[in-house]
Amino acid sequence: VHATIEWLDKPRPHIRLIDQTALPSRELYLEIFTVDELVDAIKRLVVRGAPALGVAGGFGVLLALSQGNRESWPADRLETEIAKVRHCRPTAANLAWGVDRANSVAGLGYEAVRAEAFAIFHEDDAKNRELSRLGADWIQEKISSSSVRVITHCNTGALAATGWGTAYGIIRELHERQSLGLVYVDETRPLLQGSRLTSWELTQDGIDHVIQVDGAAASTILGGLVDVAIIGADRITANGDTGNKIGSLPLALACARASIPFIVAAPFSTVDLRMETGDEIAIEERGADEVSSYWAEGTTVPGVKVFNPAFDVTPNDLISAIVTEFGVFEPSISRPLARISELVDDR
Ligand code: MRU
Repeated sequence: VHATIEWLDKPRPHIRLIDQTALPSRELYLEIFTVDELVDAIKRLVVRGAPALGVAGGFGVLLALSQGNRESWPADRLETEIAKVRHCRPTAANLAWGVDRANSVAGLGYEAVRAEAFAIFHEDDAKNRELSRLGADWIQEKISSSSVRVITHCNTGALAATGWGTAYGIIRELHERQSLGLVYVDETRPLLQGSRLTSWELTQDGIDHVIQVDGAAASTILGGLVDVAIIGADRITANGDTGNKIGSLPLALACARASIPFIVAAPFSTVDLRMETGDEIAIEERGADEVSSYWAEGTTVPGVKVFNPAFDVTPNDLISAIVTEFGVFEPSISRPLARISELVDDR
């Protein structure tokens, strides 16, 4: 069984990552000893997916502390290096959240940071299992079929988290309840997280699925082939607007037209209550080469201009339910994030 991300103390403190850029053809692991190596791995999507980035952020602070000790960094250098990790991908709320959470106990020393980073790591699985149960309950309440057909986008499985997954976790939960029909997996251009990663995980879990090109999603939905769309999230703002992998919004639009539920699943660490609406979400723009020549020897006219936003924002009125470990919120009927704020205040 693969491990998405691990902290190892020996022979020297480091992070071990499964290289998600090499899957599914090769299962390689990278050993990360320095902040620069971690930043490079995050930028290249060796490790990716919002919850996994939260864990990478926590372990990143620990890595900076241990490298700083080794190389006798002054305090301001340490701060700069930690900030590099915090800012190396802008859209997923979890990265900065993980960095800030681990860093908040830095004054108490290395062991305290280590404990906090490990808490982030261990809590992830439990949160995702809980939200998966809640999401599956919600779906089974709304959809009476004993073989619920699902469409999903990008990768939200164990690779994007630590062991279970978010949107993928709900799919897994339905499968365990023997209530899952066929899963339609968007290949997820341009980096193919759906066809390379989600399909790899579904195959290992023995879950029946088909891969389709992203452009097929709308007609799959309007053609009545699926009962529900389930996606993950990189950042959910106070009003319920949701930033997720580019190509999520078209799914939501098609689901609204077909009157089927569109569900967003994420741990609460993805919710950013400091942002009111999705207009404030920074959309990462990635390199032209991902579109023009990443997977083959050139798929465009050489030098053509490329627009490559990595995420889009789905407005709250297109979202039927936001599933977190604290409960399921229905943006259209219940001012969801006001209620989430109350729960957070209660924590
Ligand atoms: O660019 P990526 O692969 O990091 O994008 C990932 C996504 O958009 C996921 O859907 C999101 O992070 C949720 S992961 C549980």
